[in-house]
Amino acid sequence: MSTGTTVAKAKTTSAQQNAKTADVQVPGISRREFLSYAWIGSMALLLAQTGGILVWFGLPRFRAGEFGGVFTLASVPTPGDPPLDNPQGKFWLSATEEGGVVALYKVCTHLGCLYKWVEANGRFECPCHGSMYERSGQFIQGPAPRSLDRFHMTITTTSGTFESNADGDPIVIADPSSVVSVQVDTGTRLKRAGRV
Ligand code: FES
Repeated sequence: MSTGTTVAKAKTTSAQQNAKTADVQVPGISRREFLSYAWIGSMALLLAQTGGILVWFGLPRFRAGEFGGVFTLASVPTPGDPPLDNPQGKFWLSATEEGGVVALYKVCTHLGCLYKWVEANGRFECPCHGSMYERSGQFIQGPAPRSLDRFHMTITTTSGTFESNADGDPIVIADPSSVVSVQVDTGTRLKRAGRV
C-alpha cells in the first residue's frame, strides 16, 4: 500500500470521527449547563425519595381493627362481669374488683401460651404450665415471671376522656353506663416489670 493511500485513509477516518462527534453534540447546551441540569435532576430525585420515605414512615403501620392498630368498643364490663374477649385484638377487657378497667394482652408471660378466663375460679389460668392471674392481670402463682402485659386505652364517657398512664394501670370509671367508647391501642403493649 502506498504512503499516499495510507494518508488518504487516515484523513477519511478522522473525518468520520468528526462527523460522529458533531452528531452527539446538543446545540444550545454547553457541557457546563448539561452538568448543572444533571445535578439539579439528581437532587430533585433525592428529595422526592426522602419525602416519600418520610411519608411512608409517618403513616400508621396498622389499620384500625387489625392487631397492632386501634380497636374501638362501645362499652366496658362492670365489676363482677366476666372479662370481654377480643380475639382479633388479642386482648381481654377486664373489670377489676375496685371498679377499674384494663386491657390485657392475651399471651401468657411465661412461654407465650394463650391463657383462659375460668369463670368458676374467677381468674385467668394458663393451660400450659399453670400460671394464674387475677382479673387485673396481677400474677397469682405459677412459673410466669411477671403479671400480664397491658395495652394503652382511651375511655370516653359523657363526663370526659380518660387515658391509661404509662403503666397501663386500670382506669376507674365511676359510672360504667356513661361510657361512650373505649379505644384499645394494640400497638402499644405495656410490659409489666415483674410479678407485682
Ligand atoms: Fe403459661 Fe407457661 S406458658 S404458664
